[in-house]
Amino acid sequence: MIIDPLDRPLPGASLHPTLTGDAYTDPEVFRAEQASIFETMWNCVLRADALPSPGHWRTVQVGREEIIVVRSRSAGIRAYYNVCAHRGMRVCTGYEGVSRKLQCGYHAWTYTLEGDLAAAPNLTSMPDVDREDYGLRPVHVREWLGYVWVSLADEPPNFDQEVLGEVRTRFGEVESIDNYGIDRLRVAESKTYDVGANWKLIIENFMECYHCATIHPELTEVIPEFADGLASQRAGGAVHGSGFGQDVAGFTVDGSESGLSELPSIAPDQERRYYAITVKPQVFINTVPDHVIVHRMTPISPERTVVECDWLFAAEVVDRVESGELDVARSVELFHRVNLQDFEACELTQPSMSSKAYKGGGALVPSEHHIGEFHEWWRRTLR
Ligand code: FES
Ligand SMILES: [Fe+2]
Repeated sequence: MIIDPLDRPLPGASLHPTLTGDAYTDPEVFRAEQASIFETMWNCVLRADALPSPGHWRTVQVGREEIIVVRSRSAGIRAYYNVCAHRGMRVCTGYEGVSRKLQCGYHAWTYTLEGDLAAAPNLTSMPDVDREDYGLRPVHVREWLGYVWVSLADEPPNFDQEVLGEVRTRFGEVESIDNYGIDRLRVAESKTYDVGANWKLIIENFMECYHCATIHPELTEVIPEFADGLASQRAGGAVHGSGFGQDVAGFTVDGSESGLSELPSIAPDQERRYYAITVKPQVFINTVPDHVIVHRMTPISPERTVVECDWLFAAEVVDRVESGELDVARSVELFHRVNLQDFEACELTQPSMSSKAYKGGGALVPSEHHIGEFHEWWRRTLR
């Protein structure tokens, strides 16, 4: 068994209590989480290249709000509440579209891509309707790693400190996450999983590898140390890269060669290694030498979470995949199986959260101490 000095358990603790079952089922708890976590912190909502030119828009769910994310003409990507300033109808309907202006389908108030009110029937005879005051209500937007991040807070958390700094530090025992050039990669495959489980069960699952030997036969073949139950996350410390097995040629479903070159700027310590981090509250980033896998979660209800997973490869690889010259199916299949295995475990856990037998919660073993730290963060944040 590999004993990693960084993976030490909480001092003096053998078993540690979990949250109680109601934290995963209670609508009041869920409302508090929506308000204090998802409607406050930075949420990663979509890949920026999904909006290739001005006028492309998408609607996304953030907390209890629907948000329009649009590429404007003058100011890059902007985001607004999808709420008409007139009488509140949804301005954009559907999942995505392209338009020169954003027009509400009720009384035809029309907004520029920059969110100002541009036109409305009889507007000239209503001098007290100020075009700026009656614009779409904006939300804060950042781009990072090629993704659009939004915060609904009036005063958003400092992105550089809360997201970038923390991720770089935690990724950085070797080199930083920047080596993978994630902003320049392209999505070769995307899958959406509608998971019948509370979002915290999904994060907790991602934070430990105690379950890896039981439910992830393909993953433990490729990364044998996972069979010992040690996760590659080191909450509170630098992330540990987990090495590929000796006979493993690539991060593929059967450990065979992927046929892809390594990403050009990775460091020697990032070769033949897998790294994973959680960017609270809703993103997981997994890196291997030739691709990157990004999960983003959207909690829908206490017992339902949508997870979107992107497989990102070098742009020239994606070009060759699109022309049919190259196939990345074996690379994608590995983490797709891991996802299905993990989400099934979460779905089989969720019903027990309302059981009398789990009222007082369960136990965390020492190698699950990252989950204990997550629970501490959760308590602090909700307080
Ligand atoms: S509600 Fe949008 S124009 Fe009236
Ligand atoms: Fe897992």
